Amino acid sequence: MSKELVEAYNRLALTYDQNRGLFDMSAVFDDFFHILGQKSGHVLDLGCGAGEPIPGMFIDRGWEVTGVDFSEKMLELAARYQPRMKRLHSDIVDLELGSAHYDAIIAVYSLFHIEKEKHPAVFGNIYKWLKPGGKVLFTYAGKEYTGADSFSGHIEFMSERLFYSHTTPVHLREILEDIGFEVIAFDYRDIGGETFLWVTLGK
Ligand SMILES: C[S@@+](CC[C@H](N)C(=O)[O-])C[C@H]1O[C@@H](n2cnc3c(N)ncnc32)[C@H](O)[C@@H]1O
Repeated sequence: MSKELVEAYNRLALTYDQNRGLFDMSAVFDDFFHILGQKSGHVLDLGCGAGEPIPGMFIDRGWEVTGVDFSEKMLELAARYQPRMKRLHSDIVDLELGSAHYDAIIAVYSLFHIEKEKHPAVFGNIYKWLKPGGKVLFTYAGKEYTGADSFSGHIEFMSERLFYSHTTPVHLREILEDIGFEVIAFDYRDIGGETFLWVTLGK
């Protein structure tokens, strides 16, 4: 577990929560719910943070939600906001879950904190945990955010220096397609003044 990043997110939890409204992703999730096309199911949220607003959107629609985060402070907030969300305190990298268990897996603003060398294994696990027919939505960093085609290093966010890592979009797509994912959407979106790649996948 990256102790430095856990401590940074523990310090950041309240500030992040108070400012989460700056990043409105209701349009992204309107699209994702349309692609999911099912009334309810079980979603795994990797890097769920304080459980707002995204797990709440699923719970309100009747979904079961399991949220994973390595920040104790984020999970404390999540327990308050989303008492019905199952919470797992773990590093995404170390997570061991059963095969073909989830109808959807999401990872919003979290995977770019994991070293890029570990991304193929993380996406391989996501593929394994997803049911056939299931869908994935995740955010990925790129040169629009870090200034480099491929990057590992620290960037300041809300007065904390956080570790970010990403490969190139071309290589990311190769990793995903080699695993067996269908790439449904691969779009750059500016949300709250930050541009990230938003990727939707099917199995
Ligand atoms: C920017 S916040 C996003 C939270 C939430 N997804 C949202 O959209 O509000 C990133 C979250 O991912 C968590 N996180 C980052 N890397 C992680 C890892 N390797 N394992 C578990 N959680 C991680 C952080 O603790 C933090 O709560």
